[in-house]
Amino acid sequence: MGLKELKIGNLTAKIPIVQGAMGIGVSLSGLAAAVADEGGIGTISGVQIGFREPDFATNTVEANLRAIGKEIKKARKKTKGIIAINLMAAMSNYDLYVKKAVEEKIDLVVSGAGLPLALPKLVEGTSTKIVPIVSSAKAAKIIIKSYLKKGRLPDAFIVEGPLAGGHLGFKMDELLEKKFMPLKDIVREVKKLTRDAEQKHSAKIPVIAAGGIRTAEDISELKCAGSDGFQIASMFVPTVECNAHENFKLAYINATEEDEIIIESPVGMPARAIKTDFLINSTLQGSAEVSGCYNCLSGCNPSKAPYCISAALINAVNGQDGIIFSGSKINSINKMSTVKEVIKSLIG
Ligand SMILES: Cc1cc2nc3c(=O)[nH]c(=O)nc-3n(C[C@H](O)[C@H](O)[C@H](O)COP(=O)(O)O)c2cc1C
Repeated sequence: MGLKELKIGNLTAKIPIVQGAMGIGVSLSGLAAAVADEGGIGTISGVQIGFREPDFATNTVEANLRAIGKEIKKARKKTKGIIAINLMAAMSNYDLYVKKAVEEKIDLVVSGAGLPLALPKLVEGTSTKIVPIVSSAKAAKIIIKSYLKKGRLPDAFIVEGPLAGGHLGFKMDELLEKKFMPLKDIVREVKKLTRDAEQKHSAKIPVIAAGGIRTAEDISELKCAGSDGFQIASMFVPTVECNAHENFKLAYINATEEDEIIIESPVGMPARAIKTDFLINSTLQGSAEVSGCYNCLSGCNPSKAPYCISAALINAVNGQDGIIFSGSKINSINKMSTVKEVIKSLIG
């Protein structure tokens, strides 16, 4: 297919594959290091990363900060490749977590779920690259304008389309009625913007497409639309290296198209997930009382939330009933494999 390496500032990924972040705890150092070792970019999910620390329930912020340090160190021990961390702009204590990852000399901070306008200041004077996630050229334009006021540009953009997993930057009715712009068209629009900015400011802003990429043909199509890199998350779930419980991986392998659903997450955004008993019951039975709050995302109001999203995601990653986010075209993900095999199937 003639894919080029992916250059982000002074970092070069030999293959233009980025493993998308998967919270909570689905992509930790194990998966991220395995992808980085193959020459791609591995992403640690920083969302509630301290969930296995003994004081997580009582001392959540400290537990998360400690786990950020531990996971970055563990990834560095396992690989010399490129490691990113994903921290959602809507997370409470976002600034603290970004600063900790930067202190640990993370290569890239990737942020979506809101506009990560604070990033330039948070990485000032360091070599950490900043990569916002956008779902439209409109959002990319606002970010470019804001970053230029701070004397810089983003180091790359991830363009996440409507077929991605987890929280989505599209409206509920657009997703349900499938009335959305396809990823390749959003990539084209963002690429036009970045080309203009590159010319004006003698910079390079690679564009990485994400959401529903499953085959070499998908990659080829997005490459033609101008994409420099390709972010894949769901295909890395049923791999030996993925950090989730076997039951989580099996849910991916066994799911069919009918199991794919869009939910209204308690943080007020639509999200794509696999139908589980937990989701069926919470929709049918309405509000279950939220006992305890981790104060994870600023958009969530625990007194109105139908359930605690952190608890539901943690239960699932530990193999119990809960919320299992996934990208679209889930029926094409139907066997257990390794990171190497997934990458081979995508780029040969
Ligand atoms: C299980 C799961 C968890 C995810 N968690 C996050 C997250 O914490 N932060 C984020 O920015 N994106 C998250 N995503 C989105 C992915 O990083 C990625 O962009 C997207 O899923 C790519 O599409 P694909 O899964 O179809 O390959 C998640 C996706 C999945 C499947």
